[in-house]
Amino acid sequence: TWTMLNIVEEQIASIRAQIGERGQAICGLSGGVDSAVAAAIVQRAIGDRLTCVYVDHGLMRSGETEQVERDFVAATGVDLRVVDAEKQFLDALAGVSDPEEKRKIIGREFIRTFEAAEAEVLADAVSGEGGDKVAFLVQGTLYPDVVESGGGAGTSTIKSHHNVGGLPEDLEFELVEPLRTLFKDEVRLVGEQLGLPAEIVHRQPFPGPGLGIRIIGEVTRERLDILRQADAIVREEMTRAGLDRDIWQMPVVLLADVRSVGVQGDGRTYGHPIVLRPVTSEDAMTADWARLPYEVMETISTRITNEVAEVNRVTVDITSKPPGTIEWE
Ligand code: XMP
Repeated sequence: TWTMLNIVEEQIASIRAQIGERGQAICGLSGGVDSAVAAAIVQRAIGDRLTCVYVDHGLMRSGETEQVERDFVAATGVDLRVVDAEKQFLDALAGVSDPEEKRKIIGREFIRTFEAAEAEVLADAVSGEGGDKVAFLVQGTLYPDVVESGGGAGTSTIKSHHNVGGLPEDLEFELVEPLRTLFKDEVRLVGEQLGLPAEIVHRQPFPGPGLGIRIIGEVTRERLDILRQADAIVREEMTRAGLDRDIWQMPVVLLADVRSVGVQGDGRTYGHPIVLRPVTSEDAMTADWARLPYEVMETISTRITNEVAEVNRVTVDITSKPPGTIEWE
């Protein structure tokens, strides 16, 4: 729309003014809409003086890394470095089942990996003549994040959220935050305006630690592959049924430490349950369990138990938040 076009034009002008003629910028992509839109606007403003970094931690859903590597790059022409860190993350997560411990490890490994890539990209840029700032870090901070982080003490932490794409601790760059005045729906409009792929612009919220907190138990490559297959079926069927925009998000959870007896063909199986967690929500602070059509649940259940070895049971979570949280960990 006309207004979105204006926002984009204004942002491009102000980014150019901030970064100047010589500045270099770096932006971490998470696969989510905020970092993608922030990067796309900055790319429009300064072209290949922006480098994007995508840390592939191996905890993404099926097809998501390719969406960034292929579709986002095709749509924006952005200069992208992909760091393949799957082994590093899985090694660090070996033997760990506790949810908060997983979050700490994933957050820590992410910052390490991102900082190493950052140092490489900006090695020359940080030492600008006359001490002027020439290195910039692009962040997809939205207006609600700005308000929330001004909120200060007194709020108790239920889960320590690590946003992959989070801020390195010893910050030595100036921040560029082109989405600071926008709400999520406006960011999606800007993303559309910039021609980004619909899968990215309309992606439902997905936690920074990814599938790492959707495997109840230790995270291993084998378990990730099982969950990725089940999750891909769920997303495919939800899209086919036209329900993507009716629900807020739909975690698919693998109870990796639980087994139950089943019967398939003429054999007894001893496999894992999958939990579907479709919810409706306004802001993720509270949520209601979504009443999915029976036929859609039936198709999902049949397909998962037929197509995913190791899974012999599909269950649906009918708990609101509170008392349940949206994610299981
Ligand atoms: P809960 O499970 O607390 O989730 O009801 C609320 C919203 O936050 C997302 N979530 C996370 N996002 N890092 C993130 O970036 C995290 O560690 C994390 N844990 C939960 C969740 O998907 C939901 O949208």
